[in-house]
Amino acid sequence: MIFTVAVDGPAAAGKGTISRAVAAEFGFAHLDTGLLYRAVGVVSEARAADPAQVARSLTPEDLARDDLRSLAAGDAASRVAVIPAVRAALVDFQRSFARRAGGAVLDGRDIGTVICPEAEVKLFVTASAEARAHRRWLEVGGDAAQVLAEVRARDERDMNRAEAPLRPAADAVLLDTTDLSVAEAVARAAALIRARLPR
Ligand code: CDP
Ligand code: CDP
Repeated sequence: MIFTVAVDGPAAAGKGTISRAVAAEFGFAHLDTGLLYRAVGVVSEARAADPAQVARSLTPEDLARDDLRSLAAGDAASRVAVIPAVRAALVDFQRSFARRAGGAVLDGRDIGTVICPEAEVKLFVTASAEARAHRRWLEVGGDAAQVLAEVRARDERDMNRAEAPLRPAADAVLLDTTDLSVAEAVARAAALIRARLPR
């Protein structure tokens, strides 16, 4: 069975949490595409290397670095994510992952619009900037005002870039998780998938 669930949305909206949970529930493979951009951002900065070249030769070790979850890595990711040659280098891998046999969930910014416009289910997960920044702050700590500013700056950059900007696909279902628990958000996503699975 080929069945793709595309999960897009701004930073800390709950995309990864929902994607992991529904992938486990339905036995689908899961790809966190943000990790690809985080690795390109962090590795190209660390080696002062051309981000497009790094994107073309990403290794499993690059993707397993333990510093990819930091705020700085998110910032580095969104800086290299505006470069068309970086995005182009990552397309084929994501597309084949999306259409692999057995079902796949991909979360990111452009899955429903660019990577897999034919996805069977498209979710656009949002929450207020304050709620998202608070969630990220619970994970990374530090100065709460700085976390909010960082989240806002990254959303701005992601929404306003020329190539594959962050926006809901015309046929995406919006899921605002501001006032939802994780369990509620996952249940809504799962219901949507269940309704669209081939019988
Ligand atoms: O992948 P993305 O950056 O969109 O968000 P995440 O890493 O899945 O979620 C950020 C944090 O928000 C996690 O710690 C979740 O437990 C929490 N959270 C959520 O994902 N959904 C809710 N409805 C409430 C909280
Ligand atoms: O988890 P969070 O939502 O904070 O970020 P992420 O999904 O790990 O993505 C980090 C950055 O990579 C984003 O802010 C985007 O600039 C970029 N990204 C992208 O451009 N396209 C994707 N499909 C995934 C991430």
